[in-house]
Amino acid sequence: MLKKIILSVFAFIFCLNINVKADEGMWLPLLVGRLNMVDMQKMGCKLTAEEIYSVNHSSIKDAIVSINNGMCTGEIISGEGLLLTNHHCGYNYIQNHSTVDKDYLANGFWAMDKNEELRNDKLSVSFLISIEDVSGKILPYLTDDMSETKRAAIVDSLSAIIQNKAKEGTTYDAKVLSFFEGNEYYLFVTETYKDVRLVGAPPKSIGNFGGETDNWMWPRHTCDFSLFRVYMSPDGSPAEYSKKNIPLKPKHYLPISLKGVKKNDFAMVLGYPGTSDRFITSYGVKVALEKYNPSIVKIREKRLAIMAEDMKTSAEINIAYAYKYATTANYYKYYIGQSEQLEKLGVYNKKLAIEQAFTTWCNSNVVTKQKYGSVLPEIEQAYQTIGKYTVPYIYYWQAIRGGIELISYANTFEELYKQLKSTTPDEEATNKLTQSLTYAAKLYFKNYNLETDKKICKAMVEMFNCNVAKEFYPDIYSVIEKKYKNNISLYVEDVYSKSIFASKDKVLEFLVRPDYKKLDKDLGYQAMVSCYTKSKEIVDLYNKSKQELTKATRLFVKGIMEMNKNKVYYPNANSTQRLSYGKITDYYSVNTKTKYDCFTTFDQMISKVDTTNPEFIIPNKLKQLYESKDFGKYATNNVMNLNFITNNDVTGGVSGAPVINGEGQLIGVVFDINWEAVSVPILFDETYQRAIAVDIRFVLFIVDKYAGASNIIKELNIIE
Ligand code: ARG
Repeated sequence: MLKKIILSVFAFIFCLNINVKADEGMWLPLLVGRLNMVDMQKMGCKLTAEEIYSVNHSSIKDAIVSINNGMCTGEIISGEGLLLTNHHCGYNYIQNHSTVDKDYLANGFWAMDKNEELRNDKLSVSFLISIEDVSGKILPYLTDDMSETKRAAIVDSLSAIIQNKAKEGTTYDAKVLSFFEGNEYYLFVTETYKDVRLVGAPPKSIGNFGGETDNWMWPRHTCDFSLFRVYMSPDGSPAEYSKKNIPLKPKHYLPISLKGVKKNDFAMVLGYPGTSDRFITSYGVKVALEKYNPSIVKIREKRLAIMAEDMKTSAEINIAYAYKYATTANYYKYYIGQSEQLEKLGVYNKKLAIEQAFTTWCNSNVVTKQKYGSVLPEIEQAYQTIGKYTVPYIYYWQAIRGGIELISYANTFEELYKQLKSTTPDEEATNKLTQSLTYAAKLYFKNYNLETDKKICKAMVEMFNCNVAKEFYPDIYSVIEKKYKNNISLYVEDVYSKSIFASKDKVLEFLVRPDYKKLDKDLGYQAMVSCYTKSKEIVDLYNKSKQELTKATRLFVKGIMEMNKNKVYYPNANSTQRLSYGKITDYYSVNTKTKYDCFTTFDQMISKVDTTNPEFIIPNKLKQLYESKDFGKYATNNVMNLNFITNNDVTGGVSGAPVINGEGQLIGVVFDINWEAVSVPILFDETYQRAIAVDIRFVLFIVDKYAGASNIIKELNIIE
């Protein structure tokens, strides 16, 4: 699942479980030995804590990478740096390599040897080197009565010292991060590789079978995987792309089990969950339900409708907008589901009950009352301000900056503008910027269709006008009012016909002789400056109102932990490596009155094929393999399992993460959660919430039998 949304959801609240259940929790690998191992072994885990996380020896944690700083998870599955992740995590890259003539999204891509692998821009993977609890180096310098600004300054300067020391003489990155909302601090040392090449991807009819209809749903029949390879410089260090680079020699790579999986088998997932807000209060849930979620849904619905309409008209637009469409659709549906599930699970009332218990506990003695008595009223107060800015914040972010391509593209020229206008211009910097903008322009316009963007722009501006209060408008509105007599359409036509940012040729021509005066006069650049300036103002106000929550939330979390002294807590997700454990298991849905099995099969996929619906068509070759029952060693009694579900606690960012059995072997790849689980960042409900994975045997079947990529199969450590 859960490709991490680049939204920060309500990332300001961290936390934990009020009632820890066996399968709830995204645990820090460092603490698994102390907190979870006994439980895990009881459930069937044969590993020791050291085999999962060790800084002295290679361990499983060394095979688990964060892709693009938390966008997705991937795992190393060969001694030559082969990386397995989801198809939807590789989608952007597969699409970027695709053209109408060489459409890898439609037809798949397989490198039959290393020379055929494809280089990618802006793709990195980070390995976890170590985690260290540094609370003892920070907390003693902080007091409850110091101002938040002073507190933050102390945390920053102490963190900088700790980080610098950890990085000294290495190629590592180091970051001190806050856990339990500032109640604990941990140091994360990581190493990032930037030469990551595309090795293989099935056609999207296999990798995304069921498309948007089945997205966030169970039962599922999708073989959502793609393969990449990590390269390093010949001396073993991380390096930018170079022909001289060689395949990574990993500290550890996952062996693959062909034994198959059955109900109640132990399953653990190591990945990089992005954000969770398990401790969010009823006030936060209310803002999510009333403002945040519906605004996102409304904006995305409109953008999707316009994209879909244009994508139908040409093969080029269809490829150009494939990734934009898929990522927009993914979290459009997610937020519909989240609101639905928050309602169904009665999350608002559950939060209220926790808050009532907290208040009763607070009032039970003078000390707790003095320490925590004002916490909830302060949170309530802060949410009133947050509520005021939520809608304009979302509109600027999702409709303007994230919706109108011309605007966000023009913004990428801001640095160059500053250099050009500077009284002490740095010629080298200017040249570098022009070069990289020239390169970026080619990529940008490959995925751009002016008419689509223009239509979306008109629609977004209209929606903005209907939903955002006038006090939050950018100043360009006075120009629209005076010069264009409030005729939005006329204004937009003018911008798109005159701005250089609507045309690749004009942009490239500008970059040959860049001049800030041209940008000053450019209608698109003017619109961008106006929108971004106002947007920054709104973002600042929104963030400032969120900061008001910081202290109260920290104390709330501290109080809750004090109130439930005997409970074991796990911190909220924050894109650091986590382990969750559970088992393969089915569920019964009260809503649909249906019992859902824990597996799906190839047979079921075939019976789901619908030649009238592009989301449910499979390639002929796959059909032939099915008909000839040519399943090789990947079937059990001639039955090919396809997907399975577990009750592991996962969320956005865990997409592509390995499901590992009790022996430390790979059995599947996580790629989604079920509809009942989309409220999981806020509340884990053990009855309904399931992680959806693709069975590794189906992945290998596709690589081996469908693609005929025996070169890849040979690299793997397959345990039969
Ligand atoms: N919902 C899944 C995730 O967020 C899969 C998304 C890709 N599939 C799609 N049909 N858009 O990770």
